This record gives sequence, structure tokens and C-alpha cells, in this order.
Amino acid sequence: MVIRSMWKRCCLAQDRDLMCHIKTGFVLLVALTLSLSIIYFFYNFSLNPVKDPHNWFNLLNQSYNVVTEGLSGKKNVWNFVSNQQIIQTTTAQKNNISVHHHVAHPSNYHFILDEPDKCSQWDPFLVLMVPVAPRQVDARNAIRSTWGNESSVQGKAVLTLFFVGLTGGPEAQQQLEEESRQHRDLVQSNFVDSYFNLTIKTMVIMDWLATHCLQASYAMKVDSDMYIGLENLMSLLLAPNTPRQNYITGYMMWDRPVIRNKNSKWYVAEELYPEPKYPTYVQGMGYVFSNDLPEKIVEASKKVKAFNIEDAYVGACLKQLGIAPSSPPDPSQFRAYLGQYKREDFLRVITTILGSPQQLIDIWKDVKRPT
Ligand SMILES: *[C@@H]1O[C@H](CO)[C@@H](O)[C@H](O)[C@H]1NC(C)=O
Ligand SMILES: *[C@@H]1O[C@H](CO)[C@@H](O)[C@H](O)[C@H]1NC(C)=O
Ligand SMILES: *[C@@H]1O[C@H](CO)[C@@H](O)[C@H](O)[C@H]1NC(C)=O
Ligand SMILES: *[C@@H]1O[C@H](CO)[C@@H](O)[C@H](O)[C@H]1NC(C)=O
Repeated sequence: MVIRSMWKRCCLAQDRDLMCHIKTGFVLLVALTLSLSIIYFFYNFSLNPVKDPHNWFNLLNQSYNVVTEGLSGKKNVWNFVSNQQIIQTTTAQKNNISVHHHVAHPSNYHFILDEPDKCSQWDPFLVLMVPVAPRQVDARNAIRSTWGNESSVQGKAVLTLFFVGLTGGPEAQQQLEEESRQHRDLVQSNFVDSYFNLTIKTMVIMDWLATHCLQASYAMKVDSDMYIGLENLMSLLLAPNTPRQNYITGYMMWDRPVIRNKNSKWYVAEELYPEPKYPTYVQGMGYVFSNDLPEKIVEASKKVKAFNIEDAYVGACLKQLGIAPSSPPDPSQFRAYLGQYKREDFLRVITTILGSPQQLIDIWKDVKRPT
């Protein structure tokens, strides 16, 4: 119908015979493409029930369950949320939001390796909390020989600790325990260590600070691939204008859209976080906060449904608390990448991302060399 009426309209202009033929050809081509896509679509669609154990009706029924029963720990909700393997492996009872608040709440976990007296012994002003995968021993050793080995900066005690989840094997566990005996800087909790579970790790870090280290004035969550300019960080924290409470700063993330592309590492299902944008938060590579916040964040997290983007989740907890992240006095000190190495750039920054543990060692040596 559409094609025919278009053909008529086109061919009524008698004096444009050639144009008419070209246009008809074009219209037919478009129509052909369109029909092919429709056939392809139906072909795909009809294959789906074979690939997927759920039939179309089941999907409808499950989406009905999502709407009517929410996230109160139903296994099929998580399966429905996406085909992503990651989410499918997340089982129902571990996401039992109703009883233990939700999967990321630290009350669901306990410490396997711990340093319970570390803070009372060191009395640190600043604690650097480093989430790291159990196998990343090179990253830990690079940090131990660089910024993690600075026990005092501008006369203030600094402590660095590493946070890991489960190793996934007795041999790896033995190695980790040996490393722990040697360095006394590892804290391990009993959740599955994975990228998807970083929110759990962050909340365990907050819990550890709130229960083991209330004497510290400030803490920083910092990734294991970061360079930290400790002198500059300390100058910021000791500046008279820096608040001692309800303070969190870093690389500011304003108005960030939630990623709904299922192939993305940062995909978040609408069922976990329905709004299209995140509240203002500080980028997870390295954020600094006054040490009254961990306890408040853990408490607030009971009321904030967990999702897998740890830094945005901390932002959501802060929003619940009515606390806004502060822009740093010099935002250019919290950098993502600095590009080509220049010593003067590294002398200025507080954070920047590095490429490898060896690069951290090399750059640290060069930055620290006497001039
Ligand atoms: C649909 O879901 C409800 C609630 O889980 C269940 O009782 C019912 O058997 C389901 N129906 C079908 C046809 O799967
Ligand atoms: C949630 O946890 C409680 C207590 O651990 C348990 O009794 C209940 O069966 C769990 N619910 C689901 C759906 O796993
Ligand atoms: C840490 O620094 C001290 C000197 O302050 C040095 O003796 C020690 O070897 C360093 N540790 C590492 C792991 O580099
Ligand atoms: C996250 O951790 C929980 C608790 O250990 C575990 O049940 C779940 O499988 C983990 N999820 C992923 C994707 O690793």
C-alpha cells in the first residue's frame, strides 16, 4: 500500500519520467531491505525459545513477578534482569534484601584475615584502604615499596591496608596467609572476590573503618593501580579550610547516566537502580573522606538497595544521608590519566592512574630522587 501510493505520487509528474524510474527503484530496494529485516527478526525470535529454556510466556510471567514481588530475594528476578552471566551467578538467597538488608551490607560477611589491633598500635591520622584481587601480589608489593611504605607524612602517621575477598582455592589461600604473616597488612572477608562484587568490598572497607579504626581522622579508598601524591594529599587534609566531618572529595562525577548497555562492564539493570542518572559522587579510583563517614554510610546502606557500581553506590548512600561530595580545592590534582610521564606533573597531583606495578616503582623512584 505504502509503496503503491508513493509510486503514484511520484509518477503523476509526467514530465519527470527518468526520475520516476529511479525513485521507484529506490523505493523497491528499501521495501526489500525492510522485508528482509522483518523476516530476519521473526527467524531470530522463533529461535529464541530453543536457545533459552524460558519460553515467551515464562518471560512475561517473570516480568510480572518482578513488578509484583520486587527484589525480595527471588531467584528468577535476578535471572530475568539480564542474560549476563555475572548476574545469573548471583543467587537468590545471597541477595536476601529483606533480612540482611541486601547483599552488600557488611553484616552478611565476616573477616577471615584481620588486623584488629593495627589502628590502636599505629594511631594513624590517615588510613589508605586498598581493594585488590587476592592474586594481585605484584600490585601489593609495588605499593608496599612506594606510597604504602610511607608511615609518616608531614609528621602525621599514615597506615596502608589491603582488602581482599575469597581466593577460590586452598593453595591461593595458603599463599595469602603467608603474605599476611609477613606483612601484617591484609584484611580478608568471606565474599566472592570479583569485579561485580566491588560494592561489597567497599562496604566491608567502610565497616572495618567504623569498627576497627575510629581513631583515624581521614581515610582514603584507593585502587591498587594508582599513584598517590601523599605530600599533596596531606597538605589538603591539614589545610585549615578542610572540613573534619561529613567530608568526601576526589574526582567529581556529576550527572552521570546509568549504563544500560548489557555488554558494558558498568551495566546496571533498571531493577537494581531505576533512575536514569546517578547522584553526584566521587570517582572510585581514589576518594578521601573524614572518618566519621564510614559508620554513617554503613548505616545508610540499609536503606539503599545495592547495585554493582561501588563509587556511585557510595554516592547514593551519601544522598540518603544528605551529604554532598565536595569539589577539591584544586580539581586538577585528582587526575585520571596524565599521559606521557613528566616529573613536574607527578609532583603536583594527588591521584593518577598508572599502567603497571613496575611503572609505579619507576615513577616513585624518579619523583622521590633528590634534586
Ligand atoms: C507464574 O508465576 C507464578 C508466581 O511465581 C507461579 O505461581 C505460576 O506457576 C507461574 N505460571 C507459569 C505458567 O509459569
Ligand atoms: C532470607 O533469609 C532468611 C533468613 O536467613 C530465610 O529464612 C529466608 O528463607 C530467605 N529468603 C529467601 C528467599 O532466600
Ligand atoms: C620501607 O622504607 C624503609 C625505610 O624507611 C626501608 O628500609 C624498607 O626497605 C622499605 N620497605 C620496602 C618494602 O621497600
Ligand atoms: C558476590 O558475592 C556473593 C557473596 O559471596 C556471591 O554469592 C556472589 O556469587 C558474588 N557474585 C559474583 C558475580 O561474583
